[in-house]
Amino acid sequence: MRRWNAVTVWVPSSSANLGPGFDVLSIALREPSLRVSLSLSDGDGIRVLLKGKYGGSVNADPETHSGCRALRALMAKYDINEGLEMVVYVDIPPKKGLGLSGAEAAGAVVAANELLSLGLSKDDMVHYASYGEPEGHMDNVSASVCGGFNIVVRDYITGMPRVYSFRPPSDLGTVVIVPNVEKKSTRDARKAVPDFVHKSDMVGNVSRVAAVSVGFVTGDVDCILRNIAWDTVVERSRADSQVYGSGIDWKFLEEEKLYLFKKYGIAETISGAGPSRILWYSISRHSQVIDEALGYVLDRLKELGYEAEAIFKTYPSEIGAYKTSEQYE
Ligand code: HSE
Repeated sequence: MRRWNAVTVWVPSSSANLGPGFDVLSIALREPSLRVSLSLSDGDGIRVLLKGKYGGSVNADPETHSGCRALRALMAKYDINEGLEMVVYVDIPPKKGLGLSGAEAAGAVVAANELLSLGLSKDDMVHYASYGEPEGHMDNVSASVCGGFNIVVRDYITGMPRVYSFRPPSDLGTVVIVPNVEKKSTRDARKAVPDFVHKSDMVGNVSRVAAVSVGFVTGDVDCILRNIAWDTVVERSRADSQVYGSGIDWKFLEEEKLYLFKKYGIAETISGAGPSRILWYSISRHSQVIDEALGYVLDRLKELGYEAEAIFKTYPSEIGAYKTSEQYE
């Protein structure tokens, strides 16, 4: 069989949780995004080189790099002994809740699948990519591998991931606000998630996860906007543990969300483990007011001494990681 000796893949960033769907719901975003190039090399093991906008400011240790961890799991399973060289063009801001580590892991696995003609299914790729993530969480890697809106389930019987992916409504727009809040790590942010949940919070969250999913699956943007902002378990605990920045507790965040929804009909969530926020809006109904809503959020950040490091006026990506180029042997 003819093989490549190098492939490059494009990988979308992702927003996980989508309000109440902790570790289950996710969406791929067109921007920001990154690229991963993987080639066969003469040495053994995996070498990693980080380039791009944030290449100099993120972890390049092959022992702990998420892409390398995912590749090692894959290579162990398929008994692959070839040397690999991976170049990541890191253009997703790190530690901001936009799924950088998941995108690197997803990109590494999708590239290896192409490079070595492994014929893996999407669920398999999500499984191996999740080795790159703290506690093996699968929501970000699902979105980066599959694209679109995703519900990831660990199969009760096999323990393996099953991803249910849907094309997002074409009327759904997103604005990502990346504040200059320093988050220690996602691993750390996961420590703020409570082990036990009150019955009423469980009922509230389960009902809203169901409603948000129905909204995505049927293309009902109103149903998404009405339900996505409200997570009284994970967002509330993290906010009250100051994970999203000092002063950004649940009272502050809830007030902001209520104002945005009541005044504009626009919904706000924290993206993944934060601190980025996402404004969700209907393109046909809110295009006139989305900038005003954005201005309101920026003013609120300013009140607390923060500002936006980056703003992405972007859209859900219908597609997940895919090969953009290859080189033959
Ligand atoms: N579901 C994960 C979390 C996403 O909230 O910790 C991390 O990006």
